Amino acid sequence: MEDKPRGLLISPIKDGTVIDHIRAGAALTVLRVLGITGQTDEELSIATNVTSMTGGQEGRKDIVKVSNRELSKEEVDRIALISPHATINIIRDYIVVEKKGVEIPTHLSGIVRCTNAGCITNANEPIHSSFEVTEAGLHCLYCDTVITTDIESHII
Ligand code: CTP
Ligand code: ZN
Repeated sequence: MEDKPRGLLISPIKDGTVIDHIRAGAALTVLRVLGITGQTDEELSIATNVTSMTGGQEGRKDIVKVSNRELSKEEVDRIALISPHATINIIRDYIVVEKKGVEIPTHLSGIVRCTNAGCITNANEPIHSSFEVTEAGLHCLYCDTVITTDIESHII
């Protein structure tokens, strides 16, 4: 079989952030939590369902490259909820100057909306949601609801 060149699918960027190893198909959700939903002035490259080798196993992943921007801690926490194996690469003058994994924090404040419509965090007053991350799921510290499924669709 013919060898295909790898890694040339989308161009390297000069400055910015490469979010790599995103779960295949999740790139658009990552864009949503970065606040990029439609018309944007940001310089973006998105690759979806590209082949990826991890630990000698071939799989699929998505990649999002955002030029001239670094991510806030809250943005990285949101990405961790969507894709716990994502890596965040900071690029300066074409060089990867920093590479880090993402980690779901033990506590989430203002990141996820409570699924209980009657929860005080869903009232009109500006109360930030507050969840403890447990084995069972996300535990609302205001109303004790535990969100167990489809967490990414509740990310604010
Ligand atoms: N990258 C980029 N522009 C650059 C440098 C790197 O878009 N100027 C991208 C690469 O295409 C890759 C990611 O940033 O998707 C990380 O780059 P690098 O660490 O060089 O790649 P790998 O060693 O394959 O990363 P990993 O070990 O995390 O899989
Ligand atoms: Zn609640």
